[in-house]
Amino acid sequence: MEHFTPEVLISEEDIALRIDALAKAITEEFNGEEIIVICVLKGAFMFCSDLIKKIELPIKLEFMQLSSYGDGTTSSGNVKIEMDVTENLNGKNVLIVEDIVDTGLTLTTLLEMLKVRSPKSLKLASLLFKPSRNKHPVTIDYLGFEIEDKFVIGYGLDYAGRYRELPYVGVLNAGN
Ligand code: IMP
Repeated sequence: MEHFTPEVLISEEDIALRIDALAKAITEEFNGEEIIVICVLKGAFMFCSDLIKKIELPIKLEFMQLSSYGDGTTSSGNVKIEMDVTENLNGKNVLIVEDIVDTGLTLTTLLEMLKVRSPKSLKLASLLFKPSRNKHPVTIDYLGFEIEDKFVIGYGLDYAGRYRELPYVGVLNAGN
């Protein structure tokens, strides 16, 4: 089996500080109103869990799981909903929480799919954004960090299903 040693790109402490700032901005924007937080599985589970602990608003937590079929290495294909929310979004404040916006295909498609459900507001929080890879422009209302074009793992993000449990965002160094 391949062996990789993760190298820290964004530390646990830096993530926690950034989440405090994002949660404060979200709390201020919605001014006491209820929000429906949609955690996009699986990658956003850790970010979402830490973020909602710091948001001082009434929250209903929902989950969605998406899949995209491309050529195997890029998500150039169709984005499909594998698991949907249970809540009716009509007239609600909706905050999507995602791990990373890469090409932007997943999120532009998801935003279109959710807009037709007539939420009162529809916002996006993403822990990470890779600007150099972006092909489908998407407004990230609450962004954690911009990163270079590196494949990252940890803090919810995986490589072949592994490393999600790491408390930091890292990059993989092969062969160590
Ligand atoms: P997009 O549709 O190209 O923006 O891809 C978004 C999805 O690709 C994310 O939700 C991740 O699941 C995955 N992804 C993109 N870049 C990375 C990475 O560096 N590490 C782990 N997963 C990634």
